Amino acid sequence: MSATIKDVARESGVNTSTVSRALNNQYGVNCQTRAHILSVAGRLNYRPNRVAQGLVTGRSHTLGLLVSDIRNPFFAEVARGAEDAARAAKCDVVLCNSDLDPEKQLRYIGSLLEKRVDGILMNSVAMLDREQQARLAGCGVPIVLLNRSAPNRAFSTVCSDNAAGGRIAAQYLLDLGHRNIAHLTGPRQHGNLGDRGRAFAQALKAANPPVHPVVLHGRFDFGGGWELTKRLLADHRGVTAIFAGNDFMACGAVRAILDRGLRIPGDISLIGFDDIQLSSVIHPPLTTIHQPKYEIGRAAVEILLRLAREDGDRAPEHRLLGVHLIERESCGPAS
Ligand code: RIB
Repeated sequence: MSATIKDVARESGVNTSTVSRALNNQYGVNCQTRAHILSVAGRLNYRPNRVAQGLVTGRSHTLGLLVSDIRNPFFAEVARGAEDAARAAKCDVVLCNSDLDPEKQLRYIGSLLEKRVDGILMNSVAMLDREQQARLAGCGVPIVLLNRSAPNRAFSTVCSDNAAGGRIAAQYLLDLGHRNIAHLTGPRQHGNLGDRGRAFAQALKAANPPVHPVVLHGRFDFGGGWELTKRLLADHRGVTAIFAGNDFMACGAVRAILDRGLRIPGDISLIGFDDIQLSSVIHPPLTTIHQPKYEIGRAAVEILLRLAREDGDRAPEHRLLGVHLIERESCGPAS
């Protein structure tokens, strides 16, 4: 049997509210008594019952983090920012991978709600239909979307300026003289990949003369980048530059370009998006668009905790964070 707060109180010779105040570092307990109570609690191996506390306070001090796949280093950095902010507020984070599968997503959300989480961070609701989204918006706990714009602005959001990133990538390739350009990206309904891809294509179209990129959709991971690049290089031999929807895909593209005996950037220039740490150590180091991953996670938790505190009045908040070009060695002038 584990020790209870009553056991600690009895052993320490004080009442349970004094024990509670001492353990929670609250006022009204002198230093000597606090030290005595802490040492008794340690000796009895006392652990507070958070479930019971949650029933009283209505807070579980737990947040859910639902991402599509933590193996994408982008999400690892977002998760780290979220966890650090949660920890500073004495909250724990429960991680779930949805694979952007709506069924899996809803099952996880249900189970997080049953655990009475104080809020949920998630990277997408795009796979859910309108009714499911509406139910989610009214589920009773705050939800912050990571790097997505909110449908009907029903949820709070922390988003990078994906469209600006797409425009920067386009202008950079145009300035290097590229005209045969391809864009490799995720599924059509993917929110932020869609935003950056559309802005990229518009900026190319606005060039004089207009440039119309080859656009291929597929998985937005390493394997997806590899497969799409193989297809691209087989079907569109004139392409001299590729904009990969994210760095994870760009790593797969590097593999496929080298497998085909081509040089980067000698034959093909490659630019990514995200600026994951790996991008600076692959060969050649990847030119990419930096987005503030850690800050996205941290800001999302800050918003979530504010909304959880302001129980009755939950006006959604929207933050847009800047992006910029990181110029490394994977792009060169068009030959
Ligand atoms: O959902 C995956 C992608 O979206 C990440 O790689 C990152 O680019 C994010 O914005």
